[in-house]
Amino acid sequence: MIRQLDGRVAVVTGAASGIGLALVEAFLVEGMSVVLSDVDGDALGEEVDRLSTEVGDRVSGEACDVTDPDAVSAMADVVWDRHGGVHVLCNNAGVGPAGAMLDTTPSEWRWTFDVNVLGVAHGVLAFAPRMVAAGAGHIVNVASQAGLMTNAFLGMYAASKHAVVGLSEALHRELEPTPIGVSCLCPELVSTAIFDVARLRPDWVEVDETNDATQASLAEILAERGIGTDVVADRVVDAVRTGRFWVFTHDVTLPAALRRFEDLQAGRNPTGLV
Ligand SMILES: NC(=O)c1ccc[n+]([C@@H]2O[C@H](COP(=O)([O-])OP(=O)(O)OC[C@H]3O[C@@H](n4cnc5c(N)ncnc54)[C@H](O)[C@@H]3O)[C@@H](O)[C@H]2O)c1
Repeated sequence: MIRQLDGRVAVVTGAASGIGLALVEAFLVEGMSVVLSDVDGDALGEEVDRLSTEVGDRVSGEACDVTDPDAVSAMADVVWDRHGGVHVLCNNAGVGPAGAMLDTTPSEWRWTFDVNVLGVAHGVLAFAPRMVAAGAGHIVNVASQAGLMTNAFLGMYAASKHAVVGLSEALHRELEPTPIGVSCLCPELVSTAIFDVARLRPDWVEVDETNDATQASLAEILAERGIGTDVVADRVVDAVRTGRFWVFTHDVTLPAALRRFEDLQAGRNPTGLV
């Protein structure tokens, strides 16, 4: 457990926006030095410039695409050279493509899994062995409530987040004998740009235009009902301090997750909460 955050070092992927940016701000308030990393170099530069006017050289930025294992590994080298260690790693970068399963495309699947699943795995592989060797640290993998239950029209996203939950549970069990803690963040609706996927989608990803309407209506729901990112970040800081694995943000998450097991127990087909 990392009870004392002051003076420690955090790395956050997907840090130029939304939950990642809120995590950065929360860690800075705790007195940490924070390395922001994002594939969006312009947004990253803007946020690093803004934050450094407030906290000086406690923030720095590393443009990095988490789908590239060599780039993530090179980033780990840079951070170790600069800070001599990393105490908190947040594998947060993610994308939220939506749409009916039958309207998804193979390239969309590849992109979603490259970012949401392999991006987390690359972070773990590049950072965790050195954190274990250093003898202290905590890894936060950002999954979703959609990693514990499944909504229609978010099947591809839910499949990727189920993978993050599975990866994180296994990691927790394997690292239990070490001083490295693991948390799995499973937010429900948080007010961010996650459903504005077109801004991040590479040209090689083919999409069915019929999904635009689904994507737009989810973005509206998020804007109306999403909670603030600061609430999520506070829960993560608390989980890091207390060594808690599951990090939920909404009361609905546990009943939604349990519903699957009630269905299993009753021999019912999947129902889910409405
Ligand atoms: N907002 C929600 O309601 C919600 C709910 C559950 C889970 N999540 C998860 O939270 C995480 C953060 O999302 P958010 O809601 O803050 O969305 P966001 O779009 O505001 O932020 C995501 C960030 O990830 C970056 N990113 C995307 N692809 C990347 C890549 N290949 N390499 C590096 N960075 C990349 C983006 O540039 C962006 O800055 C995601 O993993 C998302 O799935 C969000």
